Amino acid sequence: MLDRPHPTPEAPTTDPFALAKALSGVHLIGGRYVPARSGKTFSVVNPATGQEVARAADGDAADVDAAVEDAARAQKEWARMPARKRGALVAQCAALMRTHVEELGRLIALETGKALRTESRVEANTVADILEFFGGLGGELKGETVPFAPDVLSVTVREPLGVVGAIIPWNVPMLLMALKVAPALVAGNTVVVKSAEEAPLAVLRICELMNRVLPAGVFNMVSGFGPECGAPLVAHSKVRKVTFTGSVETGKIVSKAAAEKLIPVTLELGGKSPMIVFADCDFEKTLAGAITSMRFTRQGQSCTAASRIYVERPIFQRFVDAMAEKVDAMVMGDPLDEKTDIGTIISEGQFEKVKSFIDEGVATKGANGRACSAMPSDPALKKGLFIQPYIFTGLDKDSRLVREEIFGPVTCVMPFDDPEAVLAEANDSEYGLAASLWTNNLKVGLNLAHRLEAGLVQINQNLVVQANLSYGGVKSSGLGKEASLEAMLEHFTHKKTIMVNMG
Ligand code: NAI
Ligand code: MG
Repeated sequence: MLDRPHPTPEAPTTDPFALAKALSGVHLIGGRYVPARSGKTFSVVNPATGQEVARAADGDAADVDAAVEDAARAQKEWARMPARKRGALVAQCAALMRTHVEELGRLIALETGKALRTESRVEANTVADILEFFGGLGGELKGETVPFAPDVLSVTVREPLGVVGAIIPWNVPMLLMALKVAPALVAGNTVVVKSAEEAPLAVLRICELMNRVLPAGVFNMVSGFGPECGAPLVAHSKVRKVTFTGSVETGKIVSKAAAEKLIPVTLELGGKSPMIVFADCDFEKTLAGAITSMRFTRQGQSCTAASRIYVERPIFQRFVDAMAEKVDAMVMGDPLDEKTDIGTIISEGQFEKVKSFIDEGVATKGANGRACSAMPSDPALKKGLFIQPYIFTGLDKDSRLVREEIFGPVTCVMPFDDPEAVLAEANDSEYGLAASLWTNNLKVGLNLAHRLEAGLVQINQNLVVQANLSYGGVKSSGLGKEASLEAMLEHFTHKKTIMVNMG
């Protein structure tokens, strides 16, 4: 359905530099690539070199209005399409993602600095997985029959909410977008996505690919900055639902604006996720789990990063040393190089923020910060936003490094002696996104799992978002769930009651 005066390649391409250029300067509105009404653009930078790779359309309220109007126009007909047919189209998009995994992986690696082998290609595959999962759920948009009176038929039906505004961040933009767009569409809504200013390209290409399958106006995308482009999307009178992933601070702004219009909002915000390691754990499995849980391969830029690791005292030092050794063996370098495990931080702003936490940790009396791995030696990368992963010990529980979300490759490891004390420490946080427990004593594990304040608790594993498992936090980590059937039904539909009096 795509009207394409804009010269993006028809076939999948493995040249992310050319693709980035081809995707420059446009939103995707009503099935067409269009420049910003203002004509303005902003720079998209390769964080591994500091070089500009594209210029994105700098959207404002006028672009948002055009996108929402098109989405609203398309929504009536989209909602009338049988739900399983909508699902089938989303599943068709999933198949298209599969043939573009390499392309999307390379493009997201270029614009975010996330390593292709360990992160970016994986993310592209997960997008296909999420679309496949939701594509099969059209038939599950079921209502209920409600007992009322013998000659009255009372039923509920699930109806879409209308136009959904989705605001996404830069850390896993393709995946987080898929978690919002797929269920919203299958449920009969149409969508306007506001991409993150640091990573607007790969999501735009996905929008293009999906627009080859979907009717025009069903899935629209604008790029731009938060206050200028995100805020008007939330405030638009025809946007009937907002779904947001990002910082707690911005989440509160979005939530207040949604409250002004009395529309529902789903928020996936930050985390400071504890990992609790008992001495009786399977040491090697837990060690590997600590490396993946902390998302070192994503430079720790994850809301579920195990950024507080509590280790039972008998194995504490051994665990810290073994962890440092493992991270030392990881290769930092060009995100597009297959040998690279760890890429770069997304932006200068985030780079400075992470550095300030590290500097504070290093300057803290009694603390020990071990810088692991090694800075890349390639001169082409000398302006890259690389930060050596840090493992801190000896920090007080009130240290800013232990309490605040760093969103960088920095973890704090602390010893504990008593399960009750470690539970209290783990729960002493404004966040409540995820937690993991590592023990062969399932009695202790399950007991603590029930009492940890988190939306997701895993014992002896710490997987990332998986389609079919509800994902979402408590406390300041957010409101509502994503990734599951429950999430689609609760957050992208409302129930209407219909009664028929047959008496
Ligand atoms: P942010 O929350 O400011 O940005 C996320 C999205 O919200 C972006 O698309 C941005 O343009 C948009 N936005 C910003 N202000 C807005 C407004 N007034 N109205 C509507 N939309 C708006 O996050 P940022 O600045 O990229 O990162 C700051 C911190 O947030 C990170 O250091 C990290 O701690 C946390 N974060 C958490 C994420 C998560 O996965 N939960 C993802 C990204 C960041
Ligand atoms: Mg911000």
